[in-house]
Amino acid sequence: MTQKSGFVILLGPPGSGKGTQAKLLSDRHQGSQPWIHISTGDLFRKEIASGSQLGKTLQGILASGQLVSDDQTNDVFHSQVKVILNKNPACVLLLDGYPRTAVQAKFLRNLANSIPVLKEGIVVELRVPEDSLVERLTNRLVNPRTGGIYHKIFNPPKKPGICDVDGGPLIQRDDDKEETVRKRFAVYSMQRDAILEALKGLRHSIIEGTGAQADVCAKLEAEIAAI
Ligand code: AP5
Ligand code: MG
Repeated sequence: MTQKSGFVILLGPPGSGKGTQAKLLSDRHQGSQPWIHISTGDLFRKEIASGSQLGKTLQGILASGQLVSDDQTNDVFHSQVKVILNKNPACVLLLDGYPRTAVQAKFLRNLANSIPVLKEGIVVELRVPEDSLVERLTNRLVNPRTGGIYHKIFNPPKKPGICDVDGGPLIQRDDDKEETVRKRFAVYSMQRDAILEALKGLRHSIIEGTGAQADVCAKLEAEIAAI
């Protein structure tokens, strides 16, 4: 494949595997034009862990399953893009959980137009039925230090509750309770069409996210290689 630069919007409901796949893909593409994972959810959780005033406000929003404001999200996203492009002037940005509203989608398109390396962009949507999402998220374990993702049944750590990579404890996310998962799913479903409308003109493909992680990864890789 000839490597090209650009951005890939990993669109999909909570639990569809955006974070899992972004991690697999970024691990597999670390060359001179790396594929780099940006998760606004992870950025917000880092801010919460820092104990800052902003983190305290964000904590309540995330725990309730609501969205952070567009202005705050766009600021955080833009700062992160600048840091990444400064270090990696040519790369593929894997966008996990951004954009999540039409306003964010328009912000992204304006930003991409002003940054030559980001001119090419595609949308890859992961589709998973709601009941599977609930099953996945209520059994998810995460490493809060690295963002590593496990599932108690489908992708269990070697030692229960302990990360295979750094040997530290795994936790359950505050927003992975069934009621909050269903709320997040409803929020996603409400925004999806408007996001896609704002992204009109970008190539949009839908991938079934229900197979084995490696199979989903191979399908995504093929889509992204065709940027
Ligand atoms: P965020 O952290 O982005 O959460 P989310 O969209 O709800 O998505 P998840 O992380 O829950 O799911 P995922 O698709 O990454 O799935 P995963 O790979 O972990 O956002 C959290 C909150 O932050 C939002 O609610 C909002 O408040 C705020 N926020 C973030 N971005 C924002 C924005 N742009 N604007 C405003 N607010 C924003 O997989 C899930 C589980 O399934 C894991 O256990 C995994 O092991 C398992 N799994 C994965 N693939 C498979 C498979 N193929 N088969 C079986 N199991 C699998
Ligand atoms: Mg995630």
